[in-house]
Amino acid sequence: MLIDTLKIAAERIRDQVVRDRRHLHARPELSFHEYGTAEFIKSRLDEIGVEWKAAAETGVIGLIRGGLDSADDPLVVLRADIDALPITETGNKPYASQRAGVMHACGHDAHTASLLGTAAILQSMRGAFHGTVKLIFQPGEEVLPGGASLMLKEGVLEGPSPAAVVGQHVMPGLPCGVIGVRSGKFMASMDELRVTVYGKGGHGAQPHLNIDPVTISAQIIVALQQLVSRMANPTLPTVLSFGKVVANGAVNVIPDQVYMEGTFRTLDESWRDEAHARMKKAAEGIASALGASCEFQVVRGYPFLMNEEGLAAVVRQLAAEYVGAENVVDPGIWMAAEDFAYYSQAAAGCFYLLGTGNEGKGTCHSLHTAQFDIDEDALLISTGLMAYIALKRLGN
Ligand code: NI
Repeated sequence: MLIDTLKIAAERIRDQVVRDRRHLHARPELSFHEYGTAEFIKSRLDEIGVEWKAAAETGVIGLIRGGLDSADDPLVVLRADIDALPITETGNKPYASQRAGVMHACGHDAHTASLLGTAAILQSMRGAFHGTVKLIFQPGEEVLPGGASLMLKEGVLEGPSPAAVVGQHVMPGLPCGVIGVRSGKFMASMDELRVTVYGKGGHGAQPHLNIDPVTISAQIIVALQQLVSRMANPTLPTVLSFGKVVANGAVNVIPDQVYMEGTFRTLDESWRDEAHARMKKAAEGIASALGASCEFQVVRGYPFLMNEEGLAAVVRQLAAEYVGAENVVDPGIWMAAEDFAYYSQAAAGCFYLLGTGNEGKGTCHSLHTAQFDIDEDALLISTGLMAYIALKRLGN
């Protein structure tokens, strides 16, 4: 049985995968600066015997060709992201980040170590399968424009179209041992809003001589929420949050301008474009009606992430075979954004969740927090499962 073979192989490399993950965890690098990480990946691929080439400056693409002949030579692409976040890790684990202000708080160290493990399993079995597996170790997932878009520009998916592009993300909200697979729309598009309201500052005691950008900004924030409650189709998730509002006057000083930053997220590209236009029109109109002016800038982020339904059904079935049907769940829509979305727009993609939560081990802290950690037992599952999905999708 293929599953038994894979589970034995995963057990054999388990300690190495944990070592790799801890090595990366202790040496996190920010988006698009993953030079040491890329060197580590290349040296590990050399040790495993996998051919590779560099891409997108700090990315690495590996290739494993099965030794059995097949007429059509199918291709499956497996992707891991490799960058870390600007967070200072707390706690005193032996493998904690050695770099103040940088931390693998989104589990990309685990994704990378897991894909190296999957590579080792597949490489050791290459004489026994047909088809080709492409490994993408992708930089810069956390920062626009996203390493995925650069990888695609460099042609990572050019040539024969892949039967699947598959990626995973650790999830502290799911118990270790559980896999989350969502069919169809899964993650949100994400756009950055940068809004400046220009008024006329002056003494706080003489509002009639000024144009107060603070009250106007407050009206804009409240009015824009009507986009979510009154204009968005209620069956379509839409999120608008302003997390930064800078007036910078004083207790008795009305400032000249107010600067605001927010995030807009949804799961439909035409509504996304329409919402941008409506928000801009409303903000500019309110400012103008009240004697001010408004510059409304949208920095387009990642598109929404779509799991191709046929592929998602296959991944769900294979995960059920690998970890037991009782351990496979539908995680619902997740309003976070992921640049894996770019691959899923270019080919049949499936992005699934790897449960890493364990109360007893203290690994239930949210992603992007200073306390984040994973239950490393999940790595025993993730390596073999991804190899299983790849081999089955290649028709083995
Ligand atoms: Ni992430």
